[in-house]
Amino acid sequence: MTDTAFTLLKPQLDNATGTSLWIADENLLNQTSRVNPAVTVISNRFDLCQQLENAGWTSQFSDFDFTAYADHSVDNIIYRVSKEKPVVHHVINQAIRILKPGGTLSIAGLKNEGIKTYLDKAKKLFAGQMEQSKLDKNTWMGILQSPGAADSELLDDQDYPQLREVASDEHFNYSSKPGVYGWNKIDKGSAFLISELAQFTERLTAPPETALDLGCGYGYLAMNCAPLGCKITATDNNAGALLACEANFRAQGINGEVVVADCAEEIEQRYPLILCNPPFHQGFSVEGDMTDRFLNAARRHLQSDGIACFVVNLHIPLERKAKKLFSTIEVIADNGSFKLILLAQPH
Ligand SMILES: C[S@@+](CC[C@H](N)C(=O)[O-])C[C@H]1O[C@@H](n2cnc3c(N)ncnc32)[C@H](O)[C@@H]1O
Repeated sequence: MTDTAFTLLKPQLDNATGTSLWIADENLLNQTSRVNPAVTVISNRFDLCQQLENAGWTSQFSDFDFTAYADHSVDNIIYRVSKEKPVVHHVINQAIRILKPGGTLSIAGLKNEGIKTYLDKAKKLFAGQMEQSKLDKNTWMGILQSPGAADSELLDDQDYPQLREVASDEHFNYSSKPGVYGWNKIDKGSAFLISELAQFTERLTAPPETALDLGCGYGYLAMNCAPLGCKITATDNNAGALLACEANFRAQGINGEVVVADCAEEIEQRYPLILCNPPFHQGFSVEGDMTDRFLNAARRHLQSDGIACFVVNLHIPLERKAKKLFSTIEVIADNGSFKLILLAQPH
């Protein structure tokens, strides 16, 4: 599916010269454009960096970290807005810092993503220097020319780069940051899974020596495996999640490692215990694809006598999807919103 906002930005990407940055997040997965060697991609998604590198682009995987770019050192920034407001505000604020006077920020998005408000705010910051266009009634782009310094107060990015304590319970304090899935709370489904973890682990014939947290976010599930005494591998493809999870492991003395991977593809090992709260969707890809990919990853990484513990919304047909991959599929509990599913005996 082609993203109309990306269609609007494409000529900017094709024609960029000098030092140019393409700020890309999950919305851009599977959107293609011919390689422009003047452009470096900065993305917080490992899978997107891989996809673009394979297509010939130069990419930097980071949590939209622009510290390597000196003030007024960049000619063009091209950005299709992200879902989360603090991320968008962070990118616009950084653009005014790193763009050369006269350098451009091209920013596009859809009306229901708040693009018109973002353009208004950016226009104010860039001292009114904006050329606006639209593809259809929903898809807008602004090309802003940097006046060299912000003309008004920077946008509220909720201190984007900063990790901070966001939640705690009787076991741990959890730190996270904007840009991480559900960053400022404990996910209700994950809390439900942990409250019933014993129901899962009693099915193991021996205490697990290792465990895998598939799509770890800031590490809630992984940390709550620690009392089992196993070494934990936590993996995600989001740069901010990996930073937060590493910090939490360090601060709370968790015996574990944090690994960057797309759906655990880069991990070889198999585990006796896998925990997973899979994502609903990614960019424009549909929920079913992601559920299937995470189920396949669980099958690939589960020991033959191990168990995988999934939590999903009640409406997700995980049991049906898991049928071709596991011989044992059991709904362990259901609280009216989420269900907990045990998978074992991978095919
Ligand atoms: C529903 S969240 C669960 C987060 C965390 N485990 C928790 O319980 O709070 C799903 C996680 O999957 C991650 N994710 C999405 N797509 C991924 C992919 N292709 N590879 C690895 N992780 C991915 C997201 O970044 C997010 O952290």
